[in-house]
Amino acid sequence: MNATVTARAHTNIALVKYWGKADTDLIIPQTGSLSLTLDQFYTDTTVVFDDRLTADEVSVNGQRLSTSQATKVHNFLNLVRQQSSRTSFARVTSVNHVPTAAGLASSASAFAALAGAASRAAGLTLDRTALSRLARRGSGSATRSVFGGFVEWHAGHDDLSSYGVPFVEDVDWPIAVVALVLDPHHKKISSRQGMQSSVNTSPFYPAWKQIVADDLAAIKPAILAHDFTTVGETLESNAMRMHALTLSAWPPYSYFNGDTLGAMQTVKELRAQGIACYYTLDAGPNLKVFCQTADVPALTARFTQQFGANNVIVAHPGPGIQFLD
Ligand code: DP6
Repeated sequence: MNATVTARAHTNIALVKYWGKADTDLIIPQTGSLSLTLDQFYTDTTVVFDDRLTADEVSVNGQRLSTSQATKVHNFLNLVRQQSSRTSFARVTSVNHVPTAAGLASSASAFAALAGAASRAAGLTLDRTALSRLARRGSGSATRSVFGGFVEWHAGHDDLSSYGVPFVEDVDWPIAVVALVLDPHHKKISSRQGMQSSVNTSPFYPAWKQIVADDLAAIKPAILAHDFTTVGETLESNAMRMHALTLSAWPPYSYFNGDTLGAMQTVKELRAQGIACYYTLDAGPNLKVFCQTADVPALTARFTQQFGANNVIVAHPGPGIQFLD
């Protein structure tokens, strides 16, 4: 009997971003990064290798993917087959759990869950470091979704040395992330394309590498000390400096839309009213607002008024990869 394995992995939001590869094939980043795994958004993926299949079969949220849509998954399964000496094709069934059709599904949770389920279904027993390295080959940010809480990705310089490490796995700090869904559609410029364009064409890229080193040095002790202001200021400035790379690339591009700017303005107004909160955003217009749990009601009230209740989702620190059965 072939093993059928289901794994669950949660998304993560980077507080110090990964934005650029040193090796595009192995997905070795130019810099380290640091994230917080979130409880509200996750992917469940089931994998079984089956000798009767004549090709890999992949479905996401009940929809069968075409061969071209499933290329990344197929390439990833080839890696697992290489490592395990399996030869058969696999059936992959994946479900993204996101509270609304929110544009918050992520390659991080998808490839971390796939790495877990596929490696186990293929008979491999990987420790979490090896799993993190494998997940990295699917998508860089998936490296960190193997772990819960605050997670650091050590950039390393080759396949063996580039992996995630839990920084604070059990988060004993009343913090939350309020996610604002400002545009649920697929992004036009993927993070993969966007970061490559930044590396190749932004004259500010060398400065970014120094910024990340400085931000990691600042945010790590601040997380340990529960210094909310330093963590918040560091993550907001890191996000804006990452997005400055998109504006300074050629051709220039931006992930912001009008609502993104409006939401940023609201965060500043809330801060001026004495509510400590800071924003970050990835390769899309949706803002994530980092705050303390005591301030969640005030923040959700304000953002619900601005963007509607369905577009405001409150998340907390989430767990690392789990195997379900
Ligand atoms: C802005 O992990 O999606 O979210 O490695 O090419 O799959 P690939 O990119 P991906 O990029 C994530 C970029 C980011 C920042 C971050 O998560 O650190």
